[in-house]
Amino acid sequence: MPTEQPHLIVATPRPSETERWAGHFRQAYPDWTVDEFAVGQPSTGAQYAVVWQPDTALFEQEPGLRAAFNLGAGVDAVASSIPSTVPLYRLEDAGMAEQMAEYALYGVLQAVGRFQPYEEQARQGQWKAHRPVDRRQWPVAVLGLGVIGRKIAQVIASLGYPVHGWSRRLHEADFPCYAGEEGLQQCLSASRILINALPLTPQTKGLINRDTLAQLQPGGYLINVARGAHLVDQDVLDALNSGQLAGAMLDAFTQEPLPADHPYWGNPAVMITPHISGITLREQALEQIGSRIAQLHQGQAASGLVDQSQGY
Ligand code: GLV
Repeated sequence: MPTEQPHLIVATPRPSETERWAGHFRQAYPDWTVDEFAVGQPSTGAQYAVVWQPDTALFEQEPGLRAAFNLGAGVDAVASSIPSTVPLYRLEDAGMAEQMAEYALYGVLQAVGRFQPYEEQARQGQWKAHRPVDRRQWPVAVLGLGVIGRKIAQVIASLGYPVHGWSRRLHEADFPCYAGEEGLQQCLSASRILINALPLTPQTKGLINRDTLAQLQPGGYLINVARGAHLVDQDVLDALNSGQLAGAMLDAFTQEPLPADHPYWGNPAVMITPHISGITLREQALEQIGSRIAQLHQGQAASGLVDQSQGY
């Protein structure tokens, strides 16, 4: 069992963000050595890396890494560059699932027009009740049933919306679950609202496209809390134009920030948010990553290990 304290290095795309997270780890774990990564610097001898979209040079410059910890849930930006010999861990929930369920619920409320008519009426000083939402008219498909997707599905199902879940491997839940290509078609054709909470892998890239959107019930609504590359943007825009989709709430984009001339901007049926549906919370991330480093350092196993052959 090693007696020395853990030595970690923080690597993110921005020096200020790297410095900020390194500062948080130094404060939370004052006995540990915490370095900041910069391209071209000599090896620090770090044993553990704490990363968010790190430069690929990290893994060449730091050959002594025993494990890497992603500062988010989605590991797509690390999975392709990390050597298979370095185990990669991702945040599990860490306060993100709740935020994302709340975000998805807001999208569902937008889709069903729960409050929109009243916003308009309040501006006009009009007192007029509308019929209650018929939830049966708004079945919801949740793609991806990891910690985040399951939480989203549970929250929405708890409010009486019919929920259908889809994932690569068949899951068991209190709502109907599907897997595989045929299962996806069944899940989508049973649904009108589509919530995407999938990991981004070569298999899920572009999964939300003309064909899959056409399987949804007409006048549908798309909520994307995962990655921009899951969507074929032109197909989403076409579906909005044709009315197959009545609206969309999008939090992640292929290029971020979303370019100023992107047709999503200015489309009144599209609500755009700047990748905030599940923000990494400092306390939870420090606690989760810190306790996993301590476990590994003592030769124990830690949870959150990514299956690098699957990419999540
Ligand atoms: C955010 O996008 C994350 O993957 O945590």
